[in-house]
Amino acid sequence: MNGNTNEYRILALGDLHFDGSAYHVREPANEVQKRGRLRNFAMWAGPSQDLLADAASRLDGSFPWVIQGGDITQGDGDDVELQTAMLTDALKHMKQVFPGRPFLPVIGNHDLRVLDSYPRWDEYDENGDCTQIAGGEYRPIRKAVLPFIAREAGLAAVPHSADYVMKQGKDLFIFVDPFHPGGATEFIRRALAETPDTRYVFVVSHLALFPCEPATKWAAWILPDYRELADMLAPRRTILISAHTHYQHLIRYRHPKGILTQLVLSSMSTNWKRAPLQLTTADYASFAKSMFPFLEVKPRDVFAPENYLEHRTWRCFSDGKPSSATGYAVLNIGDRAVTAEIYAGEKSPAMTLELV
Ligand SMILES: [Fe+2]
Repeated sequence: MNGNTNEYRILALGDLHFDGSAYHVREPANEVQKRGRLRNFAMWAGPSQDLLADAASRLDGSFPWVIQGGDITQGDGDDVELQTAMLTDALKHMKQVFPGRPFLPVIGNHDLRVLDSYPRWDEYDENGDCTQIAGGEYRPIRKAVLPFIAREAGLAAVPHSADYVMKQGKDLFIFVDPFHPGGATEFIRRALAETPDTRYVFVVSHLALFPCEPATKWAAWILPDYRELADMLAPRRTILISAHTHYQHLIRYRHPKGILTQLVLSSMSTNWKRAPLQLTTADYASFAKSMFPFLEVKPRDVFAPENYLEHRTWRCFSDGKPSSATGYAVLNIGDRAVTAEIYAGEKSPAMTLELV
């Protein structure tokens, strides 16, 4: 690795849920928020700082950027002002930990949560299925995140949404924001059309494109227009870097137009420094049935079980029980391959995955 534009590395982080008592005057609105707040305070009292410091220690001249997959904050700030402060402080903190190169985030659903608007956030139908992801509070994003993105990405003006692109050599990175009116589909279509000649396309998105356990059982929790997006992205050697589930996965699909790879990361530090155990799903038929209740899967469909080339996930043991694994990834990007080293608190990677 010499940091040139053909061979370089990217540090990739998943959900972080930055939080602190300064952003809360009122009590949590419900039990879920209460548990989340306690978890976050414990994470940010130590383990999350340690995880970020460990990640920062990997950086050298071969890393042009650090990317982060959304839910940089817990959200649930008491009001727009306190949620803006939470986002501002989280981003400031990231710049202190990772100085000297752009820090490139995407928006996660938690980043739009304000205590007052919380009941409007996740909407459920009478069967308990999540139907709605819109309805969060976008004003803190406008105030704290969009100007930050403009600075870090070197944009000519502050954008109207957190959709943006970066280029490294012939690789196109599309950072997507599905949480504003209109969603991200047209932005992705335009970005692909404007740069037709690429080596790899990376899509960085809080929501996954392909469902994977456990938080994507509802259509509302994967990217809207997933079939259309799969169709657009498959011919372009695309790697999706996602977060949101708080579980880590590698999924590779055979689409009629090419192979799509999705890496899902979690940097929640609840299980930091616990060695992960790899699991491979071989029974795709029952996996698909359990994971895609909302999809009508037809034979030869991109979502059909026979089109899974690979599905790996990993767990660690916490109090004797399998639990979600935690860490970050270093992507090694070159002409011959793209690999992801998954770090979980040891000096060496816990595993190295071949993405392309
Ligand atoms: Fe999250």
